[in-house]
Amino acid sequence: GAPETRSPTGADTGAPRAACGQQGAYLTTAQGARLRDTDHSLKAGPRGPVLLQDHHLREKITHFDHERIPERVVHARGAGAHGRFRAYGTAAEVTRAGFLQRDRETPVFVRFSTVLGSRGSADTVRDTRGFATKFYTDEGTFDLVGNNMPVFFVQDAIKFPDIIHAAKPHPDREIPQAQSAHDTFWDFVSLHTEAQHHALWNMSDRGIPRSYRTMEGFGVHTFRLVNEAGQTSLAKFHWKPKLGVHSLVWEEAQLLGGVDPDYHRRDLYDAIEAGALPEWELGLQVFPDTPEETFAGIDLLDATKLVPEELAPVQPVGRLTLTHTPTNFFAETEQVAFHLGNLTPGIDVTNDPLLQGRLFSYLDTQLTRLAGPNFPQIPINRPHAPVNDMLRDGFHQQAVHTGVAPYRPNTLDGGNPFPADDATHAFLDVPVTVAEAPKVRAAPASFDDHYSQARLFWLSMTPVERAHIVQAYTFELGKCHHQAIRERQLQCLANIDAVLCAQVAAGLGLPAPEPTAPPAQVQPSPALSQVGGRWPVD
Ligand code: HEM
Repeated sequence: GAPETRSPTGADTGAPRAACGQQGAYLTTAQGARLRDTDHSLKAGPRGPVLLQDHHLREKITHFDHERIPERVVHARGAGAHGRFRAYGTAAEVTRAGFLQRDRETPVFVRFSTVLGSRGSADTVRDTRGFATKFYTDEGTFDLVGNNMPVFFVQDAIKFPDIIHAAKPHPDREIPQAQSAHDTFWDFVSLHTEAQHHALWNMSDRGIPRSYRTMEGFGVHTFRLVNEAGQTSLAKFHWKPKLGVHSLVWEEAQLLGGVDPDYHRRDLYDAIEAGALPEWELGLQVFPDTPEETFAGIDLLDATKLVPEELAPVQPVGRLTLTHTPTNFFAETEQVAFHLGNLTPGIDVTNDPLLQGRLFSYLDTQLTRLAGPNFPQIPINRPHAPVNDMLRDGFHQQAVHTGVAPYRPNTLDGGNPFPADDATHAFLDVPVTVAEAPKVRAAPASFDDHYSQARLFWLSMTPVERAHIVQAYTFELGKCHHQAIRERQLQCLANIDAVLCAQVAAGLGLPAPEPTAPPAQVQPSPALSQVGGRWPVD
């Protein structure tokens, strides 16, 4: 038979279990030796020097010295919760993914986060929020690693370090609110105009959510789905909160930052513990899988673009309910490791260059953050599906593997068989033609439109929402030291909308420039800014 790859002590449930450090009635060392005293070092006489032979002292202090692990390079500040996902079955037509089949219930762990702040930063800052979900499905783990905004700053992952460097506090003083960080952020987004759409979402009320429970979530990228018959379609994932979308106003956000910097995590834990279980509906926008990979003229591989819901309605496919809070913040919320490559049969990636770079980045960073290649064995990361991999040894190996070291094919040790049914494979060979094309460092021409969707978003706002956006730009740009950067950003605003530009310019006491690009002809789109009113679906 196949070699046993599970640890003798490891659960197959994937649920975090009490670590071996808390068994038995008495206090012990890490080796299980009972202790009599843990308050005094072993000394040569009551007033004498401490003895090097005091192993208990050294074990206790050494372990403490290593209690911290590196925080995430982005999304360091987060809060998580466990829950369940129940599928309506409505996605069966487009994907064979088992966890989306009718009435299938799947355990999940969700981690919400801010992007830029460090682990101890305030919850209510103006920022994008992460919304990452781990589905522990029978077919392996599926991670949906999204944000609370449907678009991203850059189109190609190679620019991710640049935007993060520009937005994080400066290396000399490490003050997030410093002028220097405002200068570099606005320098970046006014030079890389593809970032204007996401920046506008950040300046809107979406940048200061009232609660994690009132945020939408978006997979952002377009994914490729495969159904039972092998037919493919393209799709975007959406989370719609049962409570609707609600934001703070800026004054509330600032006050809360001082009075209760843990406002969002407290709200999440309090709601769950009070039985007000947070819920979201998962929905799909589905598009035909055409060779152009566009829909209504929108390039589906451009992560700075969304597809308005009037053009492609979000179709509900299941419901997420968060049911309990973590037992241990470190073990669950800190050690959880999400990855876009964690895919199950029926869901595949596309050639979106932002997505492709992310496929590399997360595993790479986790190898350092979680110290070696065996972090999938950490309780919160353990799949619920049986694991029979060919991976061996390495730092922090928990499994006691039996049999010969795996290789394929082999005639000695069960042969490491593959399932007979193709449909049960992950990483499907979807029949997509990869064009014969020269090797280039370039983007397609369709990635050049940087303003039309920003304008669409602005035009979809109510007067109050517009006033908040103008105040946000005026406040943030007012913190820039360099006049040239403010002027260049005003130029970008002129290209989005003359009224927006004029109002921000007036707030800054600067002249409003003329647009350098003709304003895009777009219709106001109310559904763009508002969650659909479809909740609840049974
Ligand atoms: C972490 C979302 C783009 C690199 C995260 C997290 C989320 C997220 C939600 C936090 C996961 C958690 O709670 O543990 C997104 C979205 C993106 C995007 C929606 C664009 C659509 C990128 C890109 C890169 C990147 C382009 C790099 C090329 C990282 C890294 C982490 C991270 C290194 C830390 C992971 C860890 O330490 O476990 N991202 N991200 N992200 N992201 Fe992204």
